[in-house]
Amino acid sequence: MTQESEIKIRIEDLSFFFGDFQALDGVTLAIQPQEIFGLMGPAKSGKSTLLRVLNRMCDLIVGVRMTGGVWLDGEDILAPDCDVVGLRRRVGLVLSRPTPLPRSIYENLALAPRLAGKKGRNALDEVVEASLKAAQLWGEVKDRLQESALKLSGGQQQRLCLARTLAMEPEVILLDEPTSGLDPISTAKIEATLLQLKNDYTIVLVSNNTKQIARATDRVAFLLMGHIIEIGDTKQVFTVPADQKTDDYISGRFG
Ligand SMILES: Nc1ncnc2c1ncn2[C@@H]1O[C@H](COP(=O)(O)OP(=O)(O)OP(=O)(O)O)[C@@H](O)[C@H]1O
Ligand SMILES: [Mg+2]
Repeated sequence: MTQESEIKIRIEDLSFFFGDFQALDGVTLAIQPQEIFGLMGPAKSGKSTLLRVLNRMCDLIVGVRMTGGVWLDGEDILAPDCDVVGLRRRVGLVLSRPTPLPRSIYENLALAPRLAGKKGRNALDEVVEASLKAAQLWGEVKDRLQESALKLSGGQQQRLCLARTLAMEPEVILLDEPTSGLDPISTAKIEATLLQLKNDYTIVLVSNNTKQIARATDRVAFLLMGHIIEIGDTKQVFTVPADQKTDDYISGRFG
């Protein structure tokens, strides 16, 4: 049994409905600080839905309903009085398609911290530099910060989006298939960056690429049609899966 103090996010008996359709059924799991936790499963298994509950992005959809509980550092984030704006600052989300703003590289990173009240050129310069360094993009863009972010390659744009999330100084980083549109070299750069970042953050990585999950995560949950089939140490799950369905999935027999 994991100690409560070692749990960053605790999800208990979470069910999620889009109208009459149930997308998650009784999901229970605990995510620890300083780990990369993987969520894998075939299309429509509920991976993105689960991720979006963790920063309440799911609230933006009309007609949804949830039961069960989710706690971040012991704080109930599904409570009606939860500060959702504050929560989304603490729990950042990176989507599968890079979505830079049609502004300069610098502005992409400085905009949100400025809106959140960070003032002064020096303070913003520091955030821009630190977040680009953490996303391992600084060396490639430091001499062109005023150029449009849209001129960057797809892989660079995705690291820019990761930097933009980091600029908000989150505690948890959620990534929903962050490399699905990228070439192998850009993918490897993102994975290497995540490995560096895990010392300072809790990372939840959704991927339907089992090889990526095997390479990049410490622990993993296998989700199938809204149910958790198996949770465990990634090496263990990939070498001796406890459930036949997990075995079938990771050996490519379905999904
Ligand atoms: N806005 C929505 N309205 C109604 N149903 C939805 C909505 N979003 C998702 N669903 C349904 O919920 C189920 C889970 O979807 P979800 O996007 O979480 O799956 P996923 O595992 O992320 O799939 P993929 O690998 O394709 O991204 C699917 O059956 C999907 O059709
Ligand atoms: Mg998805």
